[in-house]
Amino acid sequence: MWSVARTPVGEKHVERSKHSKQSEVKMMLSVLAEMHMIMCLSLLLVISGAGEGSSLHIPDGRSNPLSLEKNFGRHAKDSQCHHMLKHLHNGARITVQMPPNIEGHWVSTSCEVRPGPEFITRSYRFHNNTFKAHQFYYRDNHCTTPTYTLVIRGKLRLRQASWIIRGGTEADYQVQRTQVACHSEAVATELSQRLNQSCRGQGAGAVGPPGPWEPHALYELWSDAAGGCDCSRGLNFAMHELQLLRVEKQYLQHSPEHLVEELFLGDVHTESAQRMYYRPSSYQAALQNAKNHDHACIACRIISRSDEQRPPILPPRADLAVGLHGQWVSQRCEVRPEVLFLTRHFVFHDNNRTWEGHYYHYSDPVCKHPTFTIYARGRYSRGVHSAKVMGGTEFVFKVNHMKVKPMDQATTSLLNVFNGNECGAEGSWQVGVEQDVTPTDGCVALGIRLPHTEYELFRMEQDMRGRYLLYNGQRPSDGSSPDRPEKRATSYQMPLVQCAADGLGPGLGGDDSDRPLRLNGGGGRRRPGGLVGVVILTGLLSHLN
Ligand SMILES: *[C@@H]1O[C@H](CO)[C@@H](O)[C@H](O)[C@H]1NC(C)=O
Ligand SMILES: *[C@@H]1O[C@H](CO)[C@@H](O)[C@H](O)[C@H]1NC(C)=O
Ligand SMILES: *[C@@H]1O[C@H](CO)[C@@H](O)[C@H](O)[C@H]1NC(C)=O
Repeated sequence: MWSVARTPVGEKHVERSKHSKQSEVKMMLSVLAEMHMIMCLSLLLVISGAGEGSSLHIPDGRSNPLSLEKNFGRHAKDSQCHHMLKHLHNGARITVQMPPNIEGHWVSTSCEVRPGPEFITRSYRFHNNTFKAHQFYYRDNHCTTPTYTLVIRGKLRLRQASWIIRGGTEADYQVQRTQVACHSEAVATELSQRLNQSCRGQGAGAVGPPGPWEPHALYELWSDAAGGCDCSRGLNFAMHELQLLRVEKQYLQHSPEHLVEELFLGDVHTESAQRMYYRPSSYQAALQNAKNHDHACIACRIISRSDEQRPPILPPRADLAVGLHGQWVSQRCEVRPEVLFLTRHFVFHDNNRTWEGHYYHYSDPVCKHPTFTIYARGRYSRGVHSAKVMGGTEFVFKVNHMKVKPMDQATTSLLNVFNGNECGAEGSWQVGVEQDVTPTDGCVALGIRLPHTEYELFRMEQDMRGRYLLYNGQRPSDGSSPDRPEKRATSYQMPLVQCAADGLGPGLGGDDSDRPLRLNGGGGRRRPGGLVGVVILTGLLSHLN
């Protein structure tokens, strides 16, 4: 029944071969870790009364003993959201290339936010084991005011399928040359001074001419040939994202002949001091092939025609006020470090500022084989405009209620290993049977204690087709939880899409009548906390080391 997402032969092979005892143990550990995170973290989640959430997906009968279908449709009100989770790609056929063919030109699909925050678009070319990458940096969160561009050249060699992230491929890279061009006089002056310091007075760009830089000119920051000081260090810049790759091809349902190719590269550590040392364990937003991109992607076209002399300037947009009210679901099978895959479904109730979230966890990269689900619920604060992250809105989420449902034998056994009444009733876990762990204050054995508070960051956008997208903060890369204001994210996870405009009524996915408010008609200024419902979603789970 899952014709929606297809695993290509190559990938299947990889997965099968991992079916050893060892990998089972590893999986159990990671499940544990994930649960730990979750709990620890965050929480937010949940879905509403929905009923056992089940539904998420119907595995093929062979691999999964549970029939999730039973409860499905019990509440018509959630049907649109459940349908979207079940058919993650809306009918598109997805294939994963193993090993990936990355030859060609790949571009960002929108203005990306990196930890810091940094606002960036990317245009990367790969040819015959070499790469030439353009990273365009901006002053603003809509990528309308370019500041400087890095041009990075080097070599790349694909290695084996990743053992850390199933479905990913590892690679080694070597930078041979890094250059920079500034797009205004002020930036040229500021940057040449900053880099001069990092190069200990060897001149702005040890390899370039001394003195302040000119705008638009290309300066050498480092090169293999010249050696010397690597001035790019002052930019805290690394290409470690090239160490983890995945290519997906999909044929869109609305135009079956239309191929979209996506390149996922490794993530960037959320702590800037760790960026230079971090090996990716999940992905950034995908790049699309400049030749085979979604036709609706205007940013793709603009970025693919740009270079360091003509940096992409994306169309200006107003910031949308974050209106959390309603229901939101994942658009794809999301990846978490340590072999964790999941989909999310959140319901936010503006009227009383409560939220519910369901996290559905899987053991495979196309979210076919469920391992466990978590339901959480609690309250959330009013949103406040972020002073640190342009375009972001801050919230505080509390989780005070949580349920866990193991979906496979491995997870069930794992939960049963723990003694004492510190995570549901001791030894009572069964596959497919949900337990409320609220009475035991969460699950101490898993490191989850209730109540739990998280400091969140959200933003909202409309996608190329006018649907509302909700982004919540990236989980800290060190596996901790944003349980203090200073740990609040400065970048985002993959967005969720709105599947119902309110938390109660029938799925209104296609209805235009009840939209989140647009902030004063395009003035671009967000009213802090004005909307009633802001919410978040959480990323909850994530990374655990
Ligand atoms: C690819 O790179 C190798 C090694 O650098 C070189 O010998 C070969 O000629 C290149 N092939 C093409 C098609 O450029
Ligand atoms: C770089 O630093 C040296 C010594 O600190 C200074 O003399 C020089 O003027 C600086 N150059 C630029 C472009 O800032
Ligand atoms: C909050 O409001 C929603 C929708 O009106 C309702 O279903 C839910 O039970 C309420 N929760 C609390 C704690 O009052």
